Formats: sequence, C-alpha cells, structure tokens
Amino acid sequence: MKTLQFGNGDQMPILGLGTWKSAPGDVYRAVKEALRLGYRHIDCAAIYGNEPEIGQALHESFKEGVVHRDQMWITSKLWNNSHASEDVQPALEKTLADLHLGYLDLYLIHWPVVIKKGVVFPESAKDLIGLDVLPISETWKAMEGLVDKSLCRHIGVSNFSIAKLQALLDNAKLKPEMNQIELHPYLQQSAMLDFCSKNGIHLTAYSPLGSSDRPPGMKVKGEPVLLQEPLIATIAKRCGATQAQVLISWAIHRGTAVIPKSVNPERMKQNLGAAEVSLTQNDMEELAGLDRNRRYVSGDFWSPEGSPYTAANLWEE
Ligand code: A2P
Repeated sequence: MKTLQFGNGDQMPILGLGTWKSAPGDVYRAVKEALRLGYRHIDCAAIYGNEPEIGQALHESFKEGVVHRDQMWITSKLWNNSHASEDVQPALEKTLADLHLGYLDLYLIHWPVVIKKGVVFPESAKDLIGLDVLPISETWKAMEGLVDKSLCRHIGVSNFSIAKLQALLDNAKLKPEMNQIELHPYLQQSAMLDFCSKNGIHLTAYSPLGSSDRPPGMKVKGEPVLLQEPLIATIAKRCGATQAQVLISWAIHRGTAVIPKSVNPERMKQNLGAAEVSLTQNDMEELAGLDRNRRYVSGDFWSPEGSPYTAANLWEE
C-alpha cells in the first residue's frame, strides 16, 4: 500500500479505517476484522465515544500476534473542551489508556473551536469560548510538549482553514504535519490541496463516502447523495470497481490519506481493495467536474445564537 512520508522517515499507510459513527458495540469486532484483513491505519477520536472498544481490539490483536504495534499507524484527536494548556496532556493520556497504547502516531486538534471545560457538546453560546480568549497558539504549544515527551510522534490539526494553518505555521516551533478535513468529489478543496502541498502538510480526507450514516440533525433535506452520483457509477463500471472504491481511489490519486468508515467485514474488505484500483487521467478530469463545495459536515453545530463561531469565520473561504 502507498504511504505518506513524514519528515522523520515515518510512513502513514494512505488508507485507514474511519471510526466516527462506529457504535461501541460494533467497533470492537470491526477493528479486529480490519487488522486481520490488513488495515494498518486506524483513525480515532475521543469524542467518538468508542476508544475503549478499539483499545480492546488493538490489545488483543497485538497479543494474538496478528500485527505488531510498530506496524500500525494510530491517530486520535483532542476534543474541544480540553484546549487549555493544562488539559491537553491529560486528554491524550486518557485516550492512550483507552486505546491501550504507550504512544500515538498522530494527535490532532479536532476543531478550531473551544468548548468550556466539562461540557461535551454546546447547548448554547454560553458553552463556547472564542479563540481570542483561548487561542490555538496556546493549545499548539501544549501539543508540541506531547511530542517532546514522546507521547505522540506527530501533531496536526483537523477542520482548519488555510488562514488558520498559515497562522500556525508563522508561530509554531513544530509545524503541523497533517490537516484532516472533509474531502470528496463534491468538496475538492483544491486551494487547500495546493497550500498544503507547498507547505509540507499532509491531508487526510474524512467523509470520503459522503457519511450517509450521519445523525439526522446533520443532514439537509434533498442533499445530493455521493454514492448515488451517476458519473461515479459510470466510472466504477468502466474500471470494474464499486462506487465506494472509486471514491477512495480518487482520494489516493490526489495524494491524500483517506479513512472510509465501515463496520461491515465485506465493505471493509472492498474498501481496502480500493488501494489497487487505478483511475485514468481522464477519470480524474471527469471527477474534477463534480466539485460543488458541498459540505456534509457543515460545522453549523458550533454556531448557536450568539456564538463566537460562524460558518464564515470557521471555514474562512
Ligand atoms: P457500514 O459501516 O455499514 O459499512 P464515510 O466514510 O464517508 O463516513 O461513510 C460511511 C458510511 O458509508 C457508512 O454508512 C458505511 O456503512 C457506508 N459504507 C462504508 N463502506 C461502504 C461501501 N463499500 N459501500 C457502500 N457503503 C459503504
């Protein structure tokens, strides 16, 4: 499998297993099966509420000799209520304990959004704190400390705009090595791709299949369904692959990591097989024409009335 190369020589398998929306009851079996199938990259986050089950699966798989820890790439993410410098390391330590790991390969700031300590998800603006009060630079300094202590090998961000990445690059001691963002043919973010490639920042594509299992509150009536896009069906037929494989392969062809979520053994196998699917330049050009700036994860849940966060200042497009 192709890998993304990091400055210190580490290599991240370009295709990983996503675990957002994987229910605690399903994810243990899914991760065990994924490792048997050959997945070597698992994408996690504290807020997904399933790290203990993923940790159990990892621990057992290491013990059973299915795979060694050092053959795996494990990412997790700092939740928004732990941005204060004194909260960052305890948050990572909780994730490490849940995942049964001594270190992470990659730790990301999940959102450029701050929630009050003790609140998991904001019910109103009073649960949110502006970045002018608790700036990303403070959180980043604490993230840098985690690398110094060997609790994680790499640090990065998620859901960051180009402007926020630039601000971080201007001030960071350790530059962010990853931005994990929503990427698929309906949201191609070509300017971000260019910016990151020029600045040595890797991208990971989340929601590569359109995340149709999002909670109903995150869906918009009549939204286009990525897996039902006719052009993708046509290309899939042409190259003897499935629609999901075309979407995953598209991300790989653009040089981004990609983390399709599945808890179904057949679909996990199919998705892993996408690493072998070749798209032609013509396929890629046709797919480029599907771009329509359609976010499935709009971030509007950070913008209750009176919130310091708006779609405009979050994405800065
Ligand atoms: P399941 O977990 O039952 O396989 P995303 O990665 O964009 O968040 O999309 C995840 C959604 O896509 C889930 O509903 C998942 O269901 C479904 N899915 C995963 N792999 C495939 C596939 N190969 N074909 C169709 N749907 C898939």
